[in-house]
Amino acid sequence: MSLTHFIDSTEFSKETLLAILESALQLKSNVRLKKETAPVLQGKTVGLLFEKPSTRTRVSFEVGVRQLGGEAITLYKHEVGLGKREPIKDVARVLSRYLDMVMIRTFEHDNITTFASHATIPVINGLTDHSHPCQALADFMTIKENFSDLSQLKIAYLGDGNNVCRSLVNMAQVLGIDIVISNPDSFELTTNTSVTRVSDPKIAVAGAHVVYTDTWISMGEGTTHKPDRLLSRFLPYQVTAELMALADPSAIFMHCLPAHRGEEVTDDVIEAPYSKVFDQAENRLHAQKAVMCYLVAS
Ligand code: CP
Ligand code: NVA
Repeated sequence: MSLTHFIDSTEFSKETLLAILESALQLKSNVRLKKETAPVLQGKTVGLLFEKPSTRTRVSFEVGVRQLGGEAITLYKHEVGLGKREPIKDVARVLSRYLDMVMIRTFEHDNITTFASHATIPVINGLTDHSHPCQALADFMTIKENFSDLSQLKIAYLGDGNNVCRSLVNMAQVLGIDIVISNPDSFELTTNTSVTRVSDPKIAVAGAHVVYTDTWISMGEGTTHKPDRLLSRFLPYQVTAELMALADPSAIFMHCLPAHRGEEVTDDVIEAPYSKVFDQAENRLHAQKAVMCYLVAS
């Protein structure tokens, strides 16, 4: 049987992604109702390798592994030196001898695909410059909690065409959900699929049920990558209360966090009752437990 990894949602069918989402909702309900969850990671150790900073991903994976009965070992960039202290293929083969599963947060997407091609344990993408599929799973779980019929939804993503944007678009496309993105020229999403892009953010959010944004500067970029004169081009894409007023009356605001108030979103929007950012953060825990359960059973 071939080894299954969780590197991008495009590798999974709509049915599989919906099943993982259902499992995530069930796992969340188990915690809320203090019901027992099968300890599918009992006797297993999951490695968490970080080459970039993290709050949500690190803590939600560590807690998630514990809630499934396993143990987590967190490793940082300076300790492992992926591809620098030793080749990625060697790290993959060594860690496969100790661990039962590994999550990796890294820069180039090639790092994780190279690792996965030499690993003999399941590999989970905890964010690369290219994608952030665990985030998208938690996001669609949050969307499902707010809207019962996913097929009728319109999602609008405003801002940088980055890793979070790509994973949101990828998963919306696999699930067959309408998504429109709106970014300044030169910061559009690079993708082989056809995605609706409008340059006017007002048109993008008109009638949308979900308005999503992310930071204008990602961790994979140097701080000098977008000087002020470029950042000013993002200002029309800032999610403001005026922009939210153009969305559907039932619309929710979403952001993967960390957020930069006064840049991609205003303080009143992120603090509004329609903002679901902390539900998204909480749902990372349950969505990732569902992924680990799926990988253990695959
Ligand atoms: N959203 C997210 O991945 O957060 P962290 O960078 O804190 O893990
Ligand atoms: N696009 C952001 C997401 C952080 C969770 C980054 O890559 O820094």
